[in-house]
Amino acid sequence: MDQIIIDGGAPLSGSVTVQGSKNSALPILFATILTEDRCTINNVPKLSDVRTTQAILEELGMHCNRDHHGAICVETTDPTRTLADYDLVSTMRASICSLGPLLARRGKAKVSLPGGCVFGAGGRPVDLHLKGLEALGAQIKVEKGYIIAEGKLKGAALDLSGPRGSTVTGTANILMAATLAEGDTEIRNAALEPEVTDLAIFLRGMGAQIEGVGTSTLEVHGVKELHGTDHIVMPDRIEAGTLLLAGAITKGSVTVKNVVPKQLDKLTACLEQAGFALAIEEDSIAISTNGRIRAIDISTRAYPGFPTDLQAPMTALLTQAEGVSQISENIYQDRFQHIPELNRLGAGIDQDNDHATIDGPKELSGAPVMASDLRSGASLILAGLVAKGATTVRRIYHVDRGYEAIEKKLALLGASIRREKAVEKTEEATPEPTRIPVHQD
Ligand code: EPU
Repeated sequence: MDQIIIDGGAPLSGSVTVQGSKNSALPILFATILTEDRCTINNVPKLSDVRTTQAILEELGMHCNRDHHGAICVETTDPTRTLADYDLVSTMRASICSLGPLLARRGKAKVSLPGGCVFGAGGRPVDLHLKGLEALGAQIKVEKGYIIAEGKLKGAALDLSGPRGSTVTGTANILMAATLAEGDTEIRNAALEPEVTDLAIFLRGMGAQIEGVGTSTLEVHGVKELHGTDHIVMPDRIEAGTLLLAGAITKGSVTVKNVVPKQLDKLTACLEQAGFALAIEEDSIAISTNGRIRAIDISTRAYPGFPTDLQAPMTALLTQAEGVSQISENIYQDRFQHIPELNRLGAGIDQDNDHATIDGPKELSGAPVMASDLRSGASLILAGLVAKGATTVRRIYHVDRGYEAIEKKLALLGASIRREKAVEKTEEATPEPTRIPVHQD
């Protein structure tokens, strides 16, 4: 198992280019099931979640080929396959996005329930996905841990709002299914996240008829067939935000390139409020500081609110702010796995259910810590960048799910950071996973 070791203290400086978006690329790759033609998806980040998606597509009778420029070509080899097995699905929640396309294109699907999760008390449900597909006429049963769905899909009006807002991958799933349903579908309370818009652009490229893209009401006029297309995945706004926060926590000067600044409005507004200077251009954002970091309050919300995926990295930054910062997590229950680990570095954060209070600034000191999910891992790496001495972040496979060689990008910006193999003493008898470990983001 890899670990990352950081010797904190160096202010980061320079510029760095952002990868393609993980949360766009995954549903788009699953959307290729909707046609038997070849699709070429460009700017796909090299991540373990992408490799898992390719493996699931291969199981589903699709051939995936990645070229040297980051493009993945997908073509159908066996359109009769409809089973997405537990072994792979259980490692990545986004694999639920195979359900809608399989049902719409192949008439049936048997997809393992994604299962438990390290954050999200009570698990991360998929009831809205199933409710949406049922509204389109699918017959669904859950048997022995599998979702079994079949039936000819017919357009309908449906609503995807849940107790904590809309659902991002649920919107993706229903949108994909509706493209081939007979007649018109109206998806109310669709998620507004830019990744849903990117998927809709891809689907339109395949010949889907979708109106209202970028709004909370999507109208889909079903078509008989979709065709192959080329697409460029949008930049990863969460990686961009994480790199800006890395610049911020080290009080450095960092420019992130290949971003859509509008998608980061909420983060940049928070950073300005905390005292940072931002230079926002058409496709880049530069951050610098005059020295002092002010405490701010953060409350996560669905887009265009503050993204839950940046809450953990922002928590690391606020340990360095002067005064009391409050953080409320409103999207997931219990997405605070990073807090006990940050406290091991000296952060002294108080947590009460979905609320955290940070009384800063705190001098952090390096220690061994453990990532328990993707964004908590990013948060610990950021904390390591300012901690005195060496911080070792273990279980880096979580971070590799969503950040392409994060240590290389941070080293480019001047961080003292390296990756090495480690065997955890408590797990000496456990062989390193050959596929992807069973922890989901
Ligand atoms: N929810 C339900 N029922 C459902 C689905 C969701 O109640 O059927 C609830 C969830 O429990 C949660 C809220 O609705 O409280 C939002 O969940 P959502 O379905 O929107 O999350 P998701 O689609 O599973 C995607 C991203 C996550 C990101 C969230 C929120 C992908 C592959 N994943 O998850 O990304 O946190 O939207 O923005 O797109 C990450 O990248 O680290 C990550 C976890």
